[in-house]
Amino acid sequence: MSTEVIKVTINGKEFEVPKGARLIDVCREKAFDIPSFCYYSDLALQASCRMCLVRIEKMPKLQTSCTITCTDGMIVTTQSDEIEKAQRSMLEFLLANHPLDCPVCDRGGECELQEMTFDWGGLEERFTEKKNYYPERYLSPIVANDPQRCILCKRCTRVCDEWMGEDAIEAGGRGANTVIGTYGGWLDCSQCGNCIEVCPTGTLLDGTYRHQARPWELAQTITTCSFCSDGCQMSLGSRGGEVMRAVARDRYVNGINGEFLCIKGRFAHPFVNHEDRIRTPLIRYKKDGKLIPATWDEAIKHVARRLDEIVDANGRNSLAVIGSPRITNEANYVLHKFATELVGTENYGATDAFSLRPFFDNLTAPLATHRDIRYAKTILLIGGEPEELQPLTGRQIRQAVRNGAAKLIVVNSRKIRLVEQALQFVHIRPGSEDAFVLALADKGADSTSKLGIEGADLEAVRQAISETQGDLVIMFGGELSGAAQAVIAALAPSLRADGRRVLLHPLPIYNNSLGVHDMGLMNGPHSIEQMLDGAGESIRAMYIAGRFLPQHLRGREDALSKLDFLVVQELFETDTTAFADVVLPAASFAEVDGTFTNNDGFVQRVRQSIPPVHQAKADWMITAQLATELQMDFGFEMSSSAVFREISESIPAYSGMRYPLLKDETNPVQARYAVAEKRDVSEALNSLRQTVETLPSEGDKLAVTPDVGHELFKIGTLTDKVPQFHLLAAGNPRPETVRVSPLYQITVDAELRNGVVVSGD
Ligand code: SF4
Ligand code: SF4
Ligand code: SF4
Ligand code: FES
Repeated sequence: MSTEVIKVTINGKEFEVPKGARLIDVCREKAFDIPSFCYYSDLALQASCRMCLVRIEKMPKLQTSCTITCTDGMIVTTQSDEIEKAQRSMLEFLLANHPLDCPVCDRGGECELQEMTFDWGGLEERFTEKKNYYPERYLSPIVANDPQRCILCKRCTRVCDEWMGEDAIEAGGRGANTVIGTYGGWLDCSQCGNCIEVCPTGTLLDGTYRHQARPWELAQTITTCSFCSDGCQMSLGSRGGEVMRAVARDRYVNGINGEFLCIKGRFAHPFVNHEDRIRTPLIRYKKDGKLIPATWDEAIKHVARRLDEIVDANGRNSLAVIGSPRITNEANYVLHKFATELVGTENYGATDAFSLRPFFDNLTAPLATHRDIRYAKTILLIGGEPEELQPLTGRQIRQAVRNGAAKLIVVNSRKIRLVEQALQFVHIRPGSEDAFVLALADKGADSTSKLGIEGADLEAVRQAISETQGDLVIMFGGELSGAAQAVIAALAPSLRADGRRVLLHPLPIYNNSLGVHDMGLMNGPHSIEQMLDGAGESIRAMYIAGRFLPQHLRGREDALSKLDFLVVQELFETDTTAFADVVLPAASFAEVDGTFTNNDGFVQRVRQSIPPVHQAKADWMITAQLATELQMDFGFEMSSSAVFREISESIPAYSGMRYPLLKDETNPVQARYAVAEKRDVSEALNSLRQTVETLPSEGDKLAVTPDVGHELFKIGTLTDKVPQFHLLAAGNPRPETVRVSPLYQITVDAELRNGVVVSGD
């Protein structure tokens, strides 16, 4: 928007507003109430509900304020008998075919139509004609639909198209018989549920929560999603110690993601109260014996005694301490403190898919926030697949292109879905992402044969970058080697120019990948693989929060069985607890206070929504209790804010942060990572040249576009607890009838399970 300021008069008061501002936004900003259904900020205009009417001087009729751009000297009236009469009439028309039975509607109590009717509706219905009637149905295992409640605002179709790029839901039929539906009668989409969230009525409904609770029964807790690194803000609705649903509805929460969530954030929460949660501490008294329930006191004493014996006999480095990118900063910080200050072992690490250490050690530009991505002028995406792995980032990229005319350059070995939005797709050979980074950093390097592209492709990328006026955002996925990460991090000075900012956006996989890096757990001298290789030899015991990823154990399947002692903190029994001598029940994100750091570097609050289930405890509390038993009092007095205070005092990027400063999710606080004007990455560049040298100069490219949901629907430890994910992972089969939930009609048997991919989450 322009920085030029113009004057408009609203209801007799004069205001200065930016030239080009939309009238409805200006009126609301200045606290004049404008009713609306179809207007939705940052979506294409629909202008169909005609609720947002205002009178503008010198214009003949009432005008829809959502379609009007402010001009200098404009005189506007938002309230008058004439306007109110028109608005009441519009509402009467909207209700002409709408059933007046809010008490049995699942949206009752938080429905925009219900509220608008209280504020603007007539007292009595004058239509006596028969209303249209359509039976309720399911559109997918997750999306339920009551078509007769639709007011055709088309927020759902626009969100599906503009945020998700899927266009899976559309209005069909004509005139009064128009209904929202799917192509072919069944939703074959990423099942994000954003159409449900933005629907102002009870037409599109959460099929997993429907008829389970009323909104006023739920305690709302604003917290951070525990799946990917985007860090969406959400409100967990709980009742009686049970998490009933997760929403991003703006009446409850207003974070970086607005009303957006993906399928995992919105629908995978049932793992929290799942019956398979580990209920008590468990001890295996002899190898190959059973895990036997024990009290916390017994378990902590047993672990402390065994760790003491092993370290006494074999030295400090015989104990490895492993954190997780899934648990809070507080939990990882206390684990790091346990490893370095109490045990003094150099064997510590975290089970992340890849380390971001080379990137952060060589930063020459700030991290791009999701807002920066939305307003970027050029986005260079090297590797990665944000639509599946960081869906909010995927949405920001799509909106930057669709609504902001950003240039998107996709460098990938596969034709990911974002290619449809790209100005340029650089289709490279599998595994040659490093060669692209080298080509970007060193014009003299001849990487085209390794990449399988033409020199002109690289030239076009360079030209798009050099023409950029505004922000250039460079993103990269886990395909890049450490050396390539270092080179990308140091590249900003050579790409910056007058009027062009360079911002960087890593795409790690997990909710606290950045945090586990910041807490120092990735700074140890040995990788997870090296520690597993040492199992049973130099390493005799391990203490791990969570589980190892399949890629860590690949080729080392027997490593854990070689240990003298393994302690695991977990929610569920896994392939790691199968080898554990002691299992300690950990609390989930919904049961603890703490923080996660997202891929913007925002340090965001995790808040306790329900008391810990069964006998679970917060990970950091377990570690602190163990430390006390080993004669070191960490002094946190059972307070996560005390842990965070120590984090802020010892980690420079978090300096000065306190929980009260992080309380406003609308205004997140970014960690202050060290950014240097220039970095010497000559060593990394040499190593990159050597790596690229070894890449083949011929080979086929991958032709297929990966299916929607191929990563999102994978069954992991947590999504395994949600039956709807099993149906989706098995190919989302259409049930015999759409009137009954598919959960009651389809059993995911061996035949359907074929092809289901299990992830290491
Ligand atoms: S669930 Fe998401 S992708 Fe599917 S129709 Fe709704 S908005 Fe579109
Ligand atoms: S289903 Fe909901 S969001 Fe979609 S057009 Fe109907 S009322 Fe609007
Ligand atoms: S995009 Fe990531 S952070 Fe947001 S809801 Fe999905 S998994 Fe959670
Ligand atoms: S909000 Fe303006 S026409 Fe619907």
